Amino acid sequence: MTIGFEGRVAVVTGAGNGLGRAYALELARRGAKVVVNDLGGARDGSAGQNNAEIVVDEIRNAGGEAIFNTGSVTDEEAMNAMIAETRAMWGRVDILINNAGILRDKSFAKMTIADFRQIVDVHLMGAAICTKAVWDLMREQNYGRILMTTSATGLYGNFGQANYGAAKLGLVGFMNSLGIEGQKSNIHVNTIAPAAATRMTEDILPPEVLAKLGPETVVPAALYLVSEDAPNRATIAAGGGGFERAHITLTRGIIVGDGELTPEIVGERFETISSRDGEIVPDNVGAQSAMVFGQI
Ligand code: NAI
Repeated sequence: MTIGFEGRVAVVTGAGNGLGRAYALELARRGAKVVVNDLGGARDGSAGQNNAEIVVDEIRNAGGEAIFNTGSVTDEEAMNAMIAETRAMWGRVDILINNAGILRDKSFAKMTIADFRQIVDVHLMGAAICTKAVWDLMREQNYGRILMTTSATGLYGNFGQANYGAAKLGLVGFMNSLGIEGQKSNIHVNTIAPAAATRMTEDILPPEVLAKLGPETVVPAALYLVSEDAPNRATIAAGGGGFERAHITLTRGIIVGDGELTPEIVGERFETISSRDGEIVPDNVGAQSAMVFGQI
């Protein structure tokens, strides 16, 4: 199996640094024309240097094709303009990697609603805005590959990241429905949960762990998930040479049936409700209700 991107046009948001940069470089090396989007700025979203143009230079110096865009993923007009410009230049958009992100880590007690809203705006609304900007075009083309970026925090939780975790799991929910809607137009939507040494994690993970977590260790999963052979609606964790798949499961639970329905019953049988024997991964809400109503 060889994965190539010749003739494909890819947009990578937040590609001035870290993971986005690594995705953009490898997509271009494998033949894609790449739009390197980045607003610039520091890790918390405050003002700072923008490296998008530097990444474009790197790609061009290596013989690839790329343009940069400095709009914010939260700016609907700017993202629509970016896609219109890309279309005018290269005729299509095959791949969108929603990667841009910032952190505002604090315990929930110290977090303001502004901190919460800012994170949801950039990660969740930013991905929705960029996806909306390419959606009709991908439907017209009858081809599209979209990648969301979640996090172990969204999937499993982390102290100090209630805002980030909420936004990041929202992206998995976004993928789950969008992948169903896109299927008939050959649009596949997947999600990556990366672990990589970037400025985002430089003071969160110990140095000996960071040494093994170069962004290039996440690239293989991200590129497979936006390739022609990509699955649809998969969440893949990647980093340091490890690759895993995350599922949202449903236990068999209990059926109380016509018996008395009380909170005590739920409490008394909580262990059985939680038992993972025979749990399933429902493919959609229909499959979930079929199992539950089927048992009833
Ligand atoms: P990074 O800080 O190196 O890169 C993020 C990039 O997004 C920056 O270049 C920044 O300027 C850009 N950006 C921020 N706000 C933007 C906006 N509104 N519009 C356009 N660009 C914007 O961080 P890293 O680690 O490469 O993160 C990439 C993605 O991976 C993020 O979504 C992050 O939440 C996610 N992630 C990273 C993990 C890691 O271990 N590094 C773990 C889990 C998730």
